[in-house]
Amino acid sequence: MSEQQKKIVFSGIRPTGVAHLGNYVGALRNWLKLQDQYRCYYCIVTWHALSSEYMNSKVLKDYTFEVAVDLLSIGLNPEKCVLFIQSDVKEHAELHLLLSMIIPLPWLERVPTFKEFQKEVPDKDLSTYGFLGYPVLQTADIILYKAEIVPVGEDQAFHLELAREITRRFNRYYGDVFPEPQILLTEIPKLAGTDGRKMSKSYGNAIFLKDSPQVIRQKISTMITDTRRKRRTDPGVPEDCPVFTLHKAFVAKNKQEELARDCRAAALGCLDCKKVVIDSLIQLFEPYREKRKYYEKHPQVVRDIYEEGNKNARQAAQKTMEEVRAAIGL
Ligand code: TRP
Ligand code: SF4
Repeated sequence: MSEQQKKIVFSGIRPTGVAHLGNYVGALRNWLKLQDQYRCYYCIVTWHALSSEYMNSKVLKDYTFEVAVDLLSIGLNPEKCVLFIQSDVKEHAELHLLLSMIIPLPWLERVPTFKEFQKEVPDKDLSTYGFLGYPVLQTADIILYKAEIVPVGEDQAFHLELAREITRRFNRYYGDVFPEPQILLTEIPKLAGTDGRKMSKSYGNAIFLKDSPQVIRQKISTMITDTRRKRRTDPGVPEDCPVFTLHKAFVAKNKQEELARDCRAAALGCLDCKKVVIDSLIQLFEPYREKRKYYEKHPQVVRDIYEEGNKNARQAAQKTMEEVRAAIGL
């Protein structure tokens, strides 16, 4: 298929530090698949991060670099997709401003994440203009490239629905400038962290893509399993085992089933069962670790790739903004 015929995909990732397995199965693995089929724009959304981390902004540069390295190291290919940084393409801000003119406030006030986050993180003041406008900026990100497909997890479904409404409203006032973006829902397997709770950087229970084989082995070996298996001879229930959430995401289906059967029959020990997922993780991320080593040694290569991506993104964004200004009458 020619470049012109390919549908446009857009997705964004907040720079919150190095990626863990949860980020990988939640988004990155999917991004990788899509780069071969579509014209993909993958954006590190620095301004979105700032909307909730404005009091802690000095880490943003380092985090952005870490994410940039992660994206390249998992195998995203700058020849195939546009990798760039939101705050380096100012058109996102202009479109965000223009969209803010037409969005009724109540549309934003009823976004579930807006109130939830304020309650969940009471120590942060998130009653800001910028945080309220988070979904407006997200809409600008997407339609700036006239993206038709947006791969995201369930947690972003409301934002995407809102993006579609905002797009329709824009088109109604100013003519059909933008296609309505479709959500491409990513099944996100729930991964447990080393303490059995949901894997999350803030819980300190995450397994990172950049963890060495030794660290992966150590983290998983000491993970709790189904508590029914006090002894090797006690049968277990894989569905109640935090480790098995990793098997589900990273071990071949037939092997998973075999292990589950053996677990229920007390026919294998937890250490042997863990070894299977440890080995597949170590193997899966071997090329990643190699690439990461290279990019860490050559930060200028990373910066150059992103400079090129920024340039490509800017070109597309400027073209859209010319249409937008003309449509509005500016
Ligand atoms: N809000 C998304 C998240 O938290 C990140 C994001 C920003 C995004 N802009 C986007 C995702 C545009 C998809 C499309 O994960
Ligand atoms: Fe979990 Fe495997 Fe042990 Fe069963 S055998 S409890 S699935 S680690």
